[in-house]
Amino acid sequence: MKQASVHSQRRFKKIWLMSLFSLSLLLMIIGNLTRLTGSGLSMVNWEPIMGSIPPLNESQWQEDFQQYQEYPQYRIKNQAMTLSEFKFIFYFEYIHRILGRLVGLVALLPFLWLAAASRHIKGKELLQLGILPVLVGMQGFVGWYMVKSGLINVPEVSHFRLALHLFLALFFISYVFVLFLKYHYIKLAEPLAKHDPASYVSADMLAVLSKPALLFSWVFLALQTLYGVFMAGLRAGRVSADYPTMFGQFFPKEQFIGLADAKFGLLQFMFSHAVFIHFIHRHLGIITALIILFFVLSSLIKIYGWQQNQQNQHKPACEGRASMKVKVKTLYTAFFLLGAAVLLQPLVGILAILWHVPVSLAFVHFLLAIILLHLLLFVTWIQAK
Ligand code: HEM
Repeated sequence: MKQASVHSQRRFKKIWLMSLFSLSLLLMIIGNLTRLTGSGLSMVNWEPIMGSIPPLNESQWQEDFQQYQEYPQYRIKNQAMTLSEFKFIFYFEYIHRILGRLVGLVALLPFLWLAAASRHIKGKELLQLGILPVLVGMQGFVGWYMVKSGLINVPEVSHFRLALHLFLALFFISYVFVLFLKYHYIKLAEPLAKHDPASYVSADMLAVLSKPALLFSWVFLALQTLYGVFMAGLRAGRVSADYPTMFGQFFPKEQFIGLADAKFGLLQFMFSHAVFIHFIHRHLGIITALIILFFVLSSLIKIYGWQQNQQNQHKPACEGRASMKVKVKTLYTAFFLLGAAVLLQPLVGILAILWHVPVSLAFVHFLLAIILLHLLLFVTWIQAK
């Protein structure tokens, strides 16, 4: 294939993936606000095609409102709701669903064009990009599976299904991000000897970074995120508004023992007991932040030390060894941002607890979790090269 065509194809894929990433982020933001404003159970049917049209006149609104009134959220929590209040929660959920369809189209149509019309992609790449629309389809189904759990008896969705929905969303957006990085930072066939190699990341610079610290960061972040979603799903943030104590104690054993004996088995206690989940999330959050902070600081020190060492030996730094177009400055920035995000996240979490989980702080905490994940993903991706 001609060089110019390869270049324009790569540009097309980058723009496509960047649009998909931005739209997915917006979708997640609206999804989070839908949950935080209690709007997620306002649409009681799932019609992938016809559901794109909202009620168009007053009688259609009345019809939808009446349908909603047959479900537990209205009967148990929202008996006093007016039609205009219903319209507010309906629109949140509606925009979330419309954006979901748009993300599906943006994942599918450019892929079809690349695969079928222009026959630009083949083999492994076909599979790597073809999985995108499949993942969006799965997410739509999981979303409805989650909503359904909140339409029977109790007006709350299952926190396990919420976790499935959020983890799939995080997986999707992270996957798009990594694909974007792949096209953006091409692996060079030739070393970067001609382009001031000292300012580019090289394999032997990365070799000094700690792999165990990176691995621990991932394990703890994943567990902390899982407990975070359970926290959100069970509204466990509100069970105690004091910090660092809970119910006036560091270890609220009365709440644990009493409830555990009465109706919870061990597994249920670990994964469904609001007080226990809150206890784990608030303390694991500090441990996770410390682990990631250790990884960040040790990496910064090692990169700096490596650079100094190269200069002292009067070697042209990483001569002939740089194999990626990632600047050392970019890596430093990513580590600094990761450090800042991981310091801020527990602070926002603590304030959220002290102030009874206001929507604004819960939202910032959610956004920070996504930012943190992507920064860690970025440095991991570089380290894995
Ligand atoms: C690295 C540390 C942390 C990470 C990665 C993290 C992540 C998360 C995530 C992903 C959620 C679910 C958000 C959602 O689905 O809307 C969450 C919820 C929550 N987290 Fe954290 N968290 C961390 C530390 C903390 C700390 C230290 C505290 C408090 C001491 C805290 C308090 C909360 C609260 C109150 C919620 C529930 C918010 C709601 O109901 O919407 N978090 N966290």
